[in-house]
Amino acid sequence: MTSASQRVFSGVQPTGNLHLGNYLGAIKRFVELQEGYDCIYCVVDMHAITVWQDPVELKKSIREVAAAFLAAGVDGSKQIVFNQSQVPQHAELAWVLNCVARLGWLNRMTQFKEKAGKDRENASVGLYAYPNLMAADILVYRATHVPVGEDQKQHLELARDIAQKFNNDFATSIAANGLPEKFFPQPQPLIAGPATRVMSLRDGAKKMSKSDPSDASRINLTDSADQIANKIRRAKTDPLPLPESLDGLKERPEADNLIGIYAALADTDAQGVIDEFGGGQFSQFKQALVDLTVAKLGPINAEMTRLVADPGHIDRVLGDGAARAEAIAAETMTAVKDIVGFVRR
Ligand code: TRP
Repeated sequence: MTSASQRVFSGVQPTGNLHLGNYLGAIKRFVELQEGYDCIYCVVDMHAITVWQDPVELKKSIREVAAAFLAAGVDGSKQIVFNQSQVPQHAELAWVLNCVARLGWLNRMTQFKEKAGKDRENASVGLYAYPNLMAADILVYRATHVPVGEDQKQHLELARDIAQKFNNDFATSIAANGLPEKFFPQPQPLIAGPATRVMSLRDGAKKMSKSDPSDASRINLTDSADQIANKIRRAKTDPLPLPESLDGLKERPEADNLIGIYAALADTDAQGVIDEFGGGQFSQFKQALVDLTVAKLGPINAEMTRLVADPGHIDRVLGDGAARAEAIAAETMTAVKDIVGFVRR
C-alpha cells in the first residue's frame, strides 16, 4: 500500500460566502503546509447537504471554495484539490465507520447539539452522522495531520477513537491480511493559534461567521477595497488607545481581535503589532489595517474572480484532483473490504 509518512487532509464546506476567518483560520494555513507535507484539500459538499442547500447555490459555492484555494496559492498540480462527492470511497468508508462508532460517542458531539437546536427530531440523519463522514474523509487517505479550527477538535478526537476501535476490533483480520497493525494511523490535529481565530467586527465575543445577519460583521473574500475599508473603519472598538503591552488586551475583545487580524495578515504576533502601534489611536491603526488587508486580500480577490469566470478550468482541476484522490482512497477501501470480510469483485 502507498503511504505518505506525513500527509495532510483538510476540508472546507461550500456553504456560502468565504470570509477573512476562513482565510486566516484555514486557507492561509493550507498554503503554508504545502512546504512540508503532501496535502489533500477537499471541498466537502457531502457535509454541506447535512443541512438544506439550494442546488444552484451549492454548485456555485463548490467552485468558489476551489477557486479560493487556488487563488490563495494552493498548487493544484502538486497538491490534491477536489470535491468530496467525486470520490465515492468517502461514502463507502463512512458506512463501515457508522458501524464502528457508537451512539454514545456521537451523542456527545457538541456541534450536533448546536446545529440541531431545539428541534432535534427534525434534524437530518446525515447531520447526526456527520462526524463519521469526517472520520472517513481523513482515514480513507490514512492522513497523519489535520489542520482544523478549535471548533473541530472534538470531531478529530472522535476520528482518532474510531481509528483505534477499528484497528482493535479487526486486529486479527488486519494481521491475517498481512496489513500493518495500526492500519489506520491516529490523525494529529494541527490546531490554529488564537491569532487565527477571527471574531466578528461588530462583537468581539462572537466568531466571524457567514450566518451573521450583519454583513458589516465580516470581511468577505469577495469584498472590494472600498467595502473592506468601510467595514474596518466601522469596526467596533473601545474609546481607549491601543495598549502598550499584551496584558492591556485583557477584557478588550475588539482590540484583541483587530490586533490579531493584523498580526496574522502581517505574519507576526500580537507583541509585534503592539511594538509598532501600542499607545496609538485606533483611527490610525485602522487605516494601517485597511491598507494591509486590501494588500493581502486584493490579489486573492482578483484571482478568484478570474477563476470563477472560467468554471471549465476549475472543473478540470477538481476532476484531476478527484482522480488522484481516488487512486489512494480505492487502495484503502480494498483493504478495508478484505479486513471486514466482504467478498470483492
Ligand atoms: N467539519 C469541518 C468544518 O466544518 C469540515 C471537514 C469535513 C473537515 N471533513 C473534514 C475538516 C476532514 C478536516 C478534516 O470545518
